Amino acid sequence: MDGARFYSILLLTALLLQFFAHPVMSDDEDHLLQGINAYRQSLKLPPLSKHDAAGCIADEIADEFEHTKCNASLSPARPEPLANHADALNKCKVNADTTGDAVVLPVCVPHRVATLVLTNYTTSFNTRYLNDSRFTGAGIGTDDDWTVLVLTTSTVAGSITSSAAPVLGGLQVAAATLLLPLMTWM
Ligand SMILES: *[C@@H]1O[C@H](CO)[C@@H](O)[C@H](O)[C@H]1NC(C)=O
Ligand SMILES: *[C@@H]1O[C@H](CO)[C@@H](O)[C@H](O)[C@H]1NC(C)=O
Ligand SMILES: *[C@@H]1O[C@H](CO)[C@@H](O)[C@H](O)[C@H]1NC(C)=O
Repeated sequence: MDGARFYSILLLTALLLQFFAHPVMSDDEDHLLQGINAYRQSLKLPPLSKHDAAGCIADEIADEFEHTKCNASLSPARPEPLANHADALNKCKVNADTTGDAVVLPVCVPHRVATLVLTNYTTSFNTRYLNDSRFTGAGIGTDDDWTVLVLTTSTVAGSITSSAAPVLGGLQVAAATLLLPLMTWM
């Protein structure tokens, strides 16, 4: 096989990996963000933009909640500081110094009925976070009955800055290493 072909396959693999390594929001999560932003619009607040590192953390926290039963007397659960979730911060390679002003809003609704999930955010004590112009970004994670919304600020202290790039680079190098013997064989 010639060099050009080898490198184009390598490049394609790297691009595919980048695509799959990128957290992709499910339809449910996209719709929830749209609902929240419609609510923000009704309050004349700018929309929250999708925040990848916050989404990674929200996914990890939702996983942690997976085996916790929904408890109507606890729904929605109380907002929590991100500092309570050191594992999630580690897994998402987030710098803890950038999480102090961010907030985690977990909500448990059996079968995650979309309208109830949205109203649990827009008509409960969670509302005061959604009705706050300090927050500019959002990440959403879901697992079982749980939805986790992580809100970020535009200030450094709540920006949830991730150093995920080296991990991606590492993945690509790993893929290239795996592919090399295959290429030689072809
Ligand atoms: C739900 O939470 C409340 C308050 O913590 C507790 O008293 C109750 O026993 C819980 N119910 C269930 C079914 O876990
Ligand atoms: C929040 O979700 C619970 C189900 O866990 C539901 O019973 C309750 O009505 C919801 N609250 C609001 C304000 O939507
Ligand atoms: C949103 O916040 C503003 C200013 O803090 C307040 O005037 C308004 O009543 C709040 N609206 C809701 C729905 O909480």
